[in-house]
Formats: sequence, structure tokens, C-alpha cells
Amino acid sequence: MSVTQQSLSQQAIDLENKYGAHNYHPLPVVLSKGEGVYVWDVEGKKYYDFLSAYSAVNQGHCHPAIVNAMTEQAQKLTLTSRAFYNDMLGKYEKYASEYFNFDKLLPMNTGAEAVETALKICRRWAYEVKGIDENEAEIIVCENNFHGRTTTIISFSNDPVARDNFGPYTKGFIKIEYDNLEALKNTLESNKQVAGFLVEPIQGEAGVYVPSEGYLKKAKALCEEHNVLFIADEVQTGIARTGKLLAVDHENVKPDVLILGKALSGGAYPVSAVLADDPVMKVITPGSHGSTFGGNPIAAAVAMAALNVVKDENLAENADRLGELFRSKMDEYIAKSTICRLVRGKGLLNAIVINDSEDSDTAWNICLKLRDNGLLAKPTHGNIIRFAPPLVMNETELLECVSIITETLKDFER
Ligand SMILES: Cc1ncc(COP(=O)(O)O)c(C=O)c1O
Repeated sequence: MSVTQQSLSQQAIDLENKYGAHNYHPLPVVLSKGEGVYVWDVEGKKYYDFLSAYSAVNQGHCHPAIVNAMTEQAQKLTLTSRAFYNDMLGKYEKYASEYFNFDKLLPMNTGAEAVETALKICRRWAYEVKGIDENEAEIIVCENNFHGRTTTIISFSNDPVARDNFGPYTKGFIKIEYDNLEALKNTLESNKQVAGFLVEPIQGEAGVYVPSEGYLKKAKALCEEHNVLFIADEVQTGIARTGKLLAVDHENVKPDVLILGKALSGGAYPVSAVLADDPVMKVITPGSHGSTFGGNPIAAAVAMAALNVVKDENLAENADRLGELFRSKMDEYIAKSTICRLVRGKGLLNAIVINDSEDSDTAWNICLKLRDNGLLAKPTHGNIIRFAPPLVMNETELLECVSIITETLKDFER
């Protein structure tokens, strides 16, 4: 690598450091191109992307069908705002509602906005349908949740990094242990003002925690028993990532409110949505919620194309099959490893736990070495590394990635 080439990366990093707020701690690699399962840095080095922009790029980088839909629409009409109708939104709302089997969709842009939307819908429903006293509604959430970064959402986070010194916090949330049905049952029984239960079907950011089998189904049943909305945040787990279209599909659960983002656009554009049936969605009335960009024509075109790719290319089935293969290959390695404790996950949403303390920098150093060896991944929390490649990967590529990961881990064995 020449000195001028090397300085390209450093220049980009220096620019961000000097002019950008320091709200992220990225792995030092500067990307300028992506295609399918690969990304390239500014020096031209090729990598497997094993993060997929936190599961946004499920359909692979720059999928031609999605890019075409976006560029075609961009040349016709980009934004009308919701002050007027446009000829794309209705088509998209019909397409996505039928695709996920709900009556209606409310379009937004980012995951956090969609979560906020779901919380607002839930509270309105509590007062206008369930009959909870004004301002008394409570929503149950789980410990170690990650639902985004707004002030309300971080109010019920228990990650000090996300939360500290951003108070005063929003009231109206009860936090219970994840994957604990007893806690859910007790909270529902002892509190009559509960309107909803907001849950990630797998806790992604927390470190890919898969709940016990039957948890989601039983949690949904408890919610039904207590007339409480079951709100599934599938921003990270949805759209084929875990080997089914939705992670709740593993237990045949239909949420009352479904939250989607990220891969709803294949990573091409910020598109998020909340879906619900009429008895819930009817609480939204003109003026009660909105967004200038939510439901814009480009987003509508991109989302339809992105969802079409998922079905067309059988991405859920591929994620399921490759996920099994990935975990079985990693398990073979882990059986003889001292540095890696375990692999867990569903479909192609997986994580390995590094055998070191949570505040050690071993996982970070492993990710630096993975980068040198041509694969990009990042620790979620401390000693946990998430592995979430684009779902368009094939078996040969996956096995090559397993080999890069295991060869890298070997350098860290003690
Ligand atoms: C489960 C979940 N919900 C919500 C969000 C927030 O999405 P966004 O970053 O688009 O606001 C994320 C982001 O990682 C997520 O994983």
C-alpha cells in the first residue's frame, strides 16, 4: 500500500474526527463501494461484510433491483409530503400490508421513529379503546432492550452509555427481565393500567439473546388474556434475517403492532413502518402523527422492490440453512477453543462470546484482525461479536468466512 493510498483512509477518518460529533466509535476502515456480500475500502481492499449495517443490508449491497427502483422513482417524483397524495404510497401500503398480513401500515423513516409511533399508537389505544384513565397507561419493556435513541426510548434503556445525563426521562414504562414469563405474568396481574408489551423477538444489540422456545407465544397469550397489545420490534430481526420473514413467525405469533425498519429498504434508503389491524390503527387520526418524509415516493418504490427481493430470492430459507451451517461449523471450532465460549443465534443473526471479561478489549482486537483478514464485524457489547452477513450469501462464501473467523480466532488462543 503506497503512502498516498494509505493517507486516503486516514484523511477520511481525520475529517470525521474533526468535523463530526463523536457519537460512534467505528472500526478503522473506510468503505467506498459495496456489492452483494462484499464491500471495498478506499484503498481497494475487498471485505466480506459481516454486519450488514446492523441488518439493514439483508438483500446485499446495492441490489440492482432496489437501486433501479430508487433511481427510476428519483427521476419522476421524490417528495410530496403528506399534504398531497402521491401515486406510490397507496400501492406500497397495499403491498406491504398484504405481505405482512395486516390491515394498515403507517410509514416512517427510521427505526426509532417507528418505535415512537408504536408507543403513541399503544397509548392512544389504551385511552380510547381499552379505557385506561388519562395519562395512566404503562407499557412493559424488557431489561437490556435496544429500541433506538430518542429521549423517550432511552428513558427505558438500562444502558448507561445511551442514557446518562439525558434526563429527565419519560414516564410510563415498567421494565421486566427478558425471557421471563413469570415476571410478565406478575406485572400484568398486579398492574391494571398496562397498555402494551414492547419486545424484541431476539435481543440484537444486547448481544443476540435468543429467548427460550415458547417465550413469544406464551407472552402473546398473556397479553391477550390481559387485553394488552403485544408490540414486536422487528427492526433488526425482521425481513428474513432470522430464517423466517419475521422472527415471531418461528412461534406463529401475530403481533398486535409490528415495527419494521432497516432491511425494509435493503439499506438503500431510510424506510420504517408500523403495521397493525384496523381496531388498533384507527386511533391514528389526521394531525395526530406524521413526518415530512414518511411515505415519500422513493421510500415506497424502494421498499416494494426490497420486499420483492426477499421473496424472489428466498432469503429467509437461505438465512435459515446458512445459519444452521454457520453455528455447526463454529460449534466444531469452539469445542476445542479457549478464546471463544459459545455461538448463539437464529438464521443469520448470530454472535460469539469471547472468553474474556466484558470490559476487555479482546473482542475489539479480534475485529481488527478480522478486518486485516478481509471480514468486517463489530463487538455489540464488551466481549460479544455479532455476525450478520447479507442474506444473499452462498454456501461457498459462508464457508470461506467461517475459515477467516476460525483462523483469526486461532491467533488469540492462549
Ligand atoms: C430492535 C431495534 N429497534 C430499533 C432500532 C433503531 O433503529 P434506527 O437506528 O433506524 O433508529 C434498532 C437499531 O439498531 C434496533 O435494533
